[in-house]
Amino acid sequence: MNLIDGKAVAATVLAECRQEVLALTTQGIQPGLAVVLVGEDPASQVYVGSKVKTCGDLGIFSQKIVLPASTSQEELMQVVRDLNNDPAIHGILVQSPPPKHIDEEEIIRAIDPRKDVDGFHPENVAKLALEDPSGFVPCTPAGSMRLLAAAGIDTNGAEAVVLGRSMIVGKPMALLLMAKNANATVTVAHSRSKDLPAICRRADILIAAVGRPDMVKADWVKDGAVVIDVGINRVEDPSKKSGYRLTGDVDFSSVSPKCRAITPVPGGVGPMTIAMLMKNTLQAARQQKGIA
Ligand code: GUN
Repeated sequence: MNLIDGKAVAATVLAECRQEVLALTTQGIQPGLAVVLVGEDPASQVYVGSKVKTCGDLGIFSQKIVLPASTSQEELMQVVRDLNNDPAIHGILVQSPPPKHIDEEEIIRAIDPRKDVDGFHPENVAKLALEDPSGFVPCTPAGSMRLLAAAGIDTNGAEAVVLGRSMIVGKPMALLLMAKNANATVTVAHSRSKDLPAICRRADILIAAVGRPDMVKADWVKDGAVVIDVGINRVEDPSKKSGYRLTGDVDFSSVSPKCRAITPVPGGVGPMTIAMLMKNTLQAARQQKGIA
């Protein structure tokens, strides 16, 4: 079994980003990212903190906007409009999920697609489906593809199974794997699929993105499969100071001995998501400044 070290691959991506920030800075451009958090979800607070800290490490300007859970739809819409019009901000991210009363769809549509570094706006979703590289690719699937490449996994002709059909991970992941630069044969499975274990057993490459702790068991995985575990689940653990530990969607201890390669949780996909967000922010700054 080969452990895919997300931290190490992310460090490589961040080093590339740091060079690029320097190059932009010498041209008088400082890339800027705005991260908006509505409410007090503890996991979201951690993610937003990491995103802002990474910006600082790279020399990217960042603006963290924390709004109370009681923020109205119109107030949030106005925050997005103001960021759209702010020339110091090239990328806008509204942390998901927002509180229940917020219409996330409308918020995403309000973000200027040129600043949509999450790649959630319909214009960027369309560009991904069209394989138009001017669009933004959602960070988690982009990071997962980069991990496969770094581990030397050839996706051409491979049987890939994506477990989960979310707009953030499952759907864009399936599009990336079937694109002409990857050429995988892709199956998307989800909670209503008839025999999940049987579908997963077909996979040369299994992407688990359902958000259910340890759901994928050893008998779901073919010998020699490559497993990318996108899940970051908090489960109670009284032996930890925090009272919880993180676990993926894959039952790592039983599955990992069967795998050709597998990502751990934490330290797998998580660090890559942030690294790809930095890449997308630099792409946004370049495009807005007319630098190819
Ligand atoms: N919540 C979990 N992952 C993501 C992400 O990639 N972007 C945003 N905005 N929210 C998230």
